[in-house]
Amino acid sequence: MIETYREGYALPGFAYRDPEVYENEIRRIFLKSWLYVGHQSQIPERGDYFLFEIAGESVIIVRDGEGQINALMNVCRHRGSRICDAHEGHESRFTCRYHGWTYGLDGSLRAASRVPEAFDRSRFGLRRLHAKVFVGLIFVNFDADPPSFDAIENDMAAPLAPYQLEHCKVAHRQNYPIASNWKLTVENYCECYHCAPAHPEYTVGHGRALPVEECTAMLKEVMERAPAVGLTQHVVQKAWLDAGALGIERGFDRYPLLRGHQTGSRDGAQVAPLLGTIKGFDGGTTDIQVGPVTFGLAYCDHVVFYRFTPRGQRNTDCEITWLVNESAVEGKDYDRAELTWLWDVTTLADKQIIERNQAGVDSRFYEPGPLSPMEDFTQQFLGWYVAAMGAVPGLVYRRDASG
Ligand SMILES: [Fe+2]
Repeated sequence: MIETYREGYALPGFAYRDPEVYENEIRRIFLKSWLYVGHQSQIPERGDYFLFEIAGESVIIVRDGEGQINALMNVCRHRGSRICDAHEGHESRFTCRYHGWTYGLDGSLRAASRVPEAFDRSRFGLRRLHAKVFVGLIFVNFDADPPSFDAIENDMAAPLAPYQLEHCKVAHRQNYPIASNWKLTVENYCECYHCAPAHPEYTVGHGRALPVEECTAMLKEVMERAPAVGLTQHVVQKAWLDAGALGIERGFDRYPLLRGHQTGSRDGAQVAPLLGTIKGFDGGTTDIQVGPVTFGLAYCDHVVFYRFTPRGQRNTDCEITWLVNESAVEGKDYDRAELTWLWDVTTLADKQIIERNQAGVDSRFYEPGPLSPMEDFTQQFLGWYVAAMGAVPGLVYRRDASG
């Protein structure tokens, strides 16, 4: 039996269940895309590192003596042992505890005892991934010949400039493991059809939860106010649209907060000092996308980044990073609990929704239903996904929108 994907409908259950589909996704999407791994302020000093773990792979993200950020496979070049276990830390060198092979912060092999005389150390450095730092955000790409990052940089640099993300610091970071396939987490993130029933805390302040027409009318006012507070009127809508060119998904999409609200917080009031060159609150906020599984929310006083990482067919890490001005002092300029309240409570609700969604699509009797116009962005994601996957046995992309 062949299950088909019909445009305008949810994906068939097959897409969430078949191990072969998952393997193809890792190979075709995740090992070829620029993936956001963290913010540069997480590793300010030489030797500071953290691990990025995805689909059974482990990567050491480390700052070296020249201040450069390197991405090194956490796999010893001797017999393949993991080298680093701690999720973050500080090392002057990386020593494999199995046979003592020792690597520098750039991945080069510095010492290996009792090796044959002809042994050429220069050939056995740790495998390095392409790494890119853009406005303080660190990206890696597993592919030996990755797509150019230029499209993201060219389109996103100007709209992101007022926020000065490179002069931000991590105020809080938290992982919310979700027991579901990664696609359900992205599908959920991309639509606000579920906001009214599922997110009372979010709905109180965000125009996104309103019907599209109402939200569009309010956006006009936000856009008119934006220049006065140093914000951009840019809109970047390339997310999911360049389906043939994987790895350059990007978006910068402004929308209104409800009247009287300054930011995304418990009561809409400011929770941290204004960012970068922003001079006030325009009553708007911004959805950001950088790559296929990295989404952000840029408020005038803080920015929140979501990083979705598959850890198995039915397990996804949803790591959230809250960024504030690097000069902001906790307890004085911001209260961590107030800063993180909205997206913590919202993400805990999403975790529940998504895990129940997985349980449902696992049913033998699940049949994909039609999407709402409020799920247009999710629909774009599904179209992009099916195109990126190409011909996977059994998953057929049918362009027939009828019946
Ligand atoms: Fe949600």
